[in-house]
Order: sequence, then C-alpha cells, then structure tokens
Amino acid sequence: MSERHKILIADDEPAIRETLEALLFPEGYDLAFAENGHEALEKAAEFIPDLILLDVMMPDMDGFEVCQHLRANQHLAEVPIIIVTALDDRDSRLEGIEAGADDFITKPFDRHELRLRVRTITRLNRYRSLLKERVEKDRLRESVSILEHEAAIGNLSAGVAHDFNNILAVMMGVEFIEEDLGEIEKEIPPEFRKALKARFDRSKRYCKNLTEARELGMALTGGITEFARGATDGTLTQHLGPLVIKPFDIFKRKFKRWEIVLNLDIEQDLPPVRCNGGEIQRAVLNLVTNAVYAMEEVHNVHRRLNVRLRKDGEAVKLSIEDNGTGMPEDVQTRIFDNLFTTKEKGKGTGIGLATVKKIMDSHGGKIAVDSEVGRGTCFVLTFPVT
Ligand SMILES: Nc1ncnc2c1ncn2[C@@H]1O[C@H](COP(=O)(O)OP(=O)(O)OP(=O)(O)O)[C@@H](O)[C@H]1O
Ligand SMILES: [Mg+2]
Repeated sequence: MSERHKILIADDEPAIRETLEALLFPEGYDLAFAENGHEALEKAAEFIPDLILLDVMMPDMDGFEVCQHLRANQHLAEVPIIIVTALDDRDSRLEGIEAGADDFITKPFDRHELRLRVRTITRLNRYRSLLKERVEKDRLRESVSILEHEAAIGNLSAGVAHDFNNILAVMMGVEFIEEDLGEIEKEIPPEFRKALKARFDRSKRYCKNLTEARELGMALTGGITEFARGATDGTLTQHLGPLVIKPFDIFKRKFKRWEIVLNLDIEQDLPPVRCNGGEIQRAVLNLVTNAVYAMEEVHNVHRRLNVRLRKDGEAVKLSIEDNGTGMPEDVQTRIFDNLFTTKEKGKGTGIGLATVKKIMDSHGGKIAVDSEVGRGTCFVLTFPVT
C-alpha cells in the first residue's frame, strides 16, 4: 500500500487548481481534481482521498452541499474536508461547520499556512486510522481468544459428560436395591413389618430420588454429548410442565436447608411446544441454581421462589422469580455475556445464562429479566407455540 497521502482538489477555477497542484505536488501528495460538485462526489467515491480541499462557490452544487453528501456517505464520512473560500464571514463558516467541514482556508491563501494545515490534517488522520485499526485488531484478538476458550470448555465438558455418564450408569444399581427392598419387605413376618415400615418407606423414597436424579443427570450429559457430536437437535413437540418440574427434585434439600418456599403454579391444559427436553431442563436448572445462590445471600427475609408456567397469547411463558439479592442495572446489561460472572473464582464461570440464552435462541424463544437490588429477580422465558 502506498504511503502517499491522497488529496482531492475540487475547484471550478483552473488557476486555483493549478496553484494548489504546484504547491502540493512537490510535497509528495497523490492528487486528483474535480471541476464541479458532482465530479467532486464521483472522484471522492473512486479515489477515497485522505483529505478533500473543497471550493465553496462552484456552479451546479456548492461546496456546502458537496460536504453534506460526503458526510452522508458511510465510506467518506470520516474523510477530513477543508473548505477553501473567499467568504470570510462568520455565517458562511457556521454553514460550513454545519455541513461537516473540518477546517477553512481563506482565499487568497498563504502558501506556508496552506502546506502546514494540509500536512497536519493528513498526518492526524493517518494516526487516527492507525489507532482505529489497532483497536479493531485488539477486538478481533479478544473474540478469537473467547472462541478458543469456548472450544476448550466445550471439549472439556464433552469429556466430563462422557465419563460422568459411566458413573451414572453405576447408579442404576439403586433400581435393583429398590426392587430388593420390596421383595424383602414382603418376606418379613407381618408382626415385624409394621415396626419396620417407616424405615422401608424412607429407603424406598431415597431410592426413588436417586433414580430421578440419575435420569435427569443422564438427560443432561446426553444433551452435552449429543451436542458435541453435532447429532440431531433432539426436539419433540411436548408439554413443558413435566420438564419444568423435574429439575426441582434436585433442589429439595437445598430448599429445606435455606428455608426456601417453592410456589409452583403450572396452568392446566397448556399447549405443547416444540423443544429439546434436555436443554429445557438445563435452562431451568441454571436459573434455579442462580436464584438459590441469590437467596442464600439474603437474610431476615422469607425466601420464596415463585415458578409459573402459563399461556400468553400464542406463547407459553415460564417465569422464575426469587426474592434474593437482585441485580444493579450495570450487571443486568451483561448477564447474558459469555463468561460474565460476579461470583468469586471457583463459585461461578459465567456460562450459565449465556447457555440459557443460546437455548432460548435455538428454540425461537426469548428470555427477559426484571430485577432490582433488594427486591429480587424474575426471569421470563417465552416459548412460541407452533
Ligand atoms: N437470580 C439472580 N439473582 C441475582 N443475580 C443473578 C441471578 N441470576 C444471575 N445473576 C447474576 O448474573 C451473573 C451471571 O450468571 P450466570 O449464570 O451466567 O453465571 P454464574 O452463575 O456467575 O456462573 P455459572 O457459569 O456457574 O452459572 C451472576 O454472576 C450473577 O451476578
Ligand atoms: Mg449461574
């Protein structure tokens, strides 16, 4: 690329064009000329100058109008424009500034002054574009490193999901224990059975919980491995209710420990939606994990989690509302950014909500948040009904 600065000179007077050429050519500029406003616009578009010297009084289209057209063109809007004018009054300067001019030179011009102004402005602009280039490169580098990071996390989670699935497979033994418990209970003489009933019931309940947690775990890991393999999108037309309720089993103990009251309100006769069950459960799991975390941080309040699934026009809406810490506005604007977290190292990765957003996008749905510090947070997921 040439290092020579390019200057477009637009003036209808040949004598002025020649004078400017005689002044600027020896300085090493690459010059182009236009004799009227229209030509100035055409030449500017093909030459893409580093600076335009523009006469005001030209036939057909005056310099101010040319200036306005240039500023309206996204490729030329940044090019510095010096208006060369015989009009030295305040009004025409104001008009020039309004039209987008950067500087003025009054005719007849002082040669040294003109050279100096041109030199300063072209250098300044080169510096500005270098700076812009550098900022863009930095931004690009940053997004590449985020992508690399995401890919590394993706590989890692696919590996973890795979190994975790093997662990979950071992947990299948719980189902045999549950079966055996039933058999053993029947074998116990009736006179002892009554005394042991409470214990048997508790053991069977634990077995059931473990089986449910295992099934949920397998749906989640299955989703991750399927995603890593780039397999089918796994969507079905199904009811959201059971999918939404399931992840809450995992939180039972947490809710009890933190005295969180869960209000589940699932409307009857909701229409089914087309969705990937594993992904919906992942989204709910993330939102509830965040809500529980936010509620653990507040004290002296009756912690409650309101979960509502309802029909709204042509959509089904799921709202998850906590009365935890709430979020300040600057946090709210960044929560869907990948890797954004306010949690200390080891407590959060900042992937949760970015994942939920991706899941909602892939379902053609929406996620919205309403939050206030000290009041709590409500996330609303909107699923289109097809
Ligand atoms: N219900 C909520 N109440 C208050 N703040 C929340 C809530 N949900 C999300 N946040 C804020 O949004 C941030 C981003 O949430 P996100 O789930 O993406 O990441 P994380 O929870 O920090 O980490 P992880 O990747 O482990 O989920 C959180 O760090 C927190 O500041
Ligand atoms: Mg989270």
